[in-house]
Amino acid sequence: MATFRTPELDRPDPQDFDLRLRIDTLNDSDRADHLAAQAADRNEILHGLTQPQKTLPSKYFYDQRGSELFEEICDQPEYYPTRTEAWILDHYAGEMADVTGPCELVELGSGSSTKTRALLDAYRDRGGPLRYVPIDVSRTILIESARQLLRDYPTLQVRGTIATYERALLQLGVNPTATDLSARMLIFLGSTLGNFTPEESDRFFMQVRDFLNAGDYFLLGVDLHKNTAQLEAAYNDAQGITAHFNLNILDHLNHRFATNFKRDNFEHWAFYNEHDRQIEMHLRCLIDHEVQLGDHRFSFTQGETIRTEISRKFDLESLQTQLNQYDLEPIQVWQDPQGWFASILTRRRSD
Ligand code: AVJ
Repeated sequence: MATFRTPELDRPDPQDFDLRLRIDTLNDSDRADHLAAQAADRNEILHGLTQPQKTLPSKYFYDQRGSELFEEICDQPEYYPTRTEAWILDHYAGEMADVTGPCELVELGSGSSTKTRALLDAYRDRGGPLRYVPIDVSRTILIESARQLLRDYPTLQVRGTIATYERALLQLGVNPTATDLSARMLIFLGSTLGNFTPEESDRFFMQVRDFLNAGDYFLLGVDLHKNTAQLEAAYNDAQGITAHFNLNILDHLNHRFATNFKRDNFEHWAFYNEHDRQIEMHLRCLIDHEVQLGDHRFSFTQGETIRTEISRKFDLESLQTQLNQYDLEPIQVWQDPQGWFASILTRRRSD
């Protein structure tokens, strides 16, 4: 009996996907290296929990659940940054592509790559090869979003990289595959820069400078300083998704480092520190108790907090001055009509 197969004309051959997709993992390949990394991560946590103001690294928000919760935060009416940046990209990606000409897109912290589509559309519409290098720590999210992109952009080539920003910037510095595209544009969206302390952003800009060749571009999306009420609402959504996101870091740490945090012992607290111009997210302890990490015990007293994140809010002028000091010459800035968010395009100067 003949079996009938419906021709899937709208779908490219799955094999074609394999040819257009490559996924690399940086750093996790050899075991010694992996163990060393795990030990370093553990020490970093120990260090944060022994400071007078206890802290946890905000990168631990983003396990699978945390990444899903972050996507949900982006849909909350109070959380304006994501949709504002999306508006800027939707309106001005064409201008951006006209300024840079054809280039390979390299994205740090690509996540679901939703906002990047405006850029991919713009570069596709202008012809030339379409190449995208998404970098993310989550394999699941990286592969899932790459598949969707390959489906929607038949000429797209994706070289996904599972790595931290730092690793990726250090190791992807040379561009051996680029015979058809000589320029690159590094993109860093969503105001993730805001999570870095001033010292960490200095380091980051140095790594960006070293990563790029003269003439390459760096597109940076940043949230701007504004009134406290609007900022605080964005980090205290009425649905409590941000609170879940904040508390989820404890579940992630329990899972990953065998700590015994109880989320019921903590509550979400977020406020705008106007002096330092940063949102601070904390977990406030509700009762006196202890938490263990291996042989270490940490005492928590009622009312004390763990700072889990800073989210700095920028001043456009001083940020451009700073970028310029790292040989990242500001070329053009695009903003939403309210002036809440900015996309800054810089070009790597020759030194
Ligand atoms: C993804 C780091 C830009 O700082 O606004 C959202 C993360 N934290 N709500 C931000 C976040 C709480 C977000 N970034």
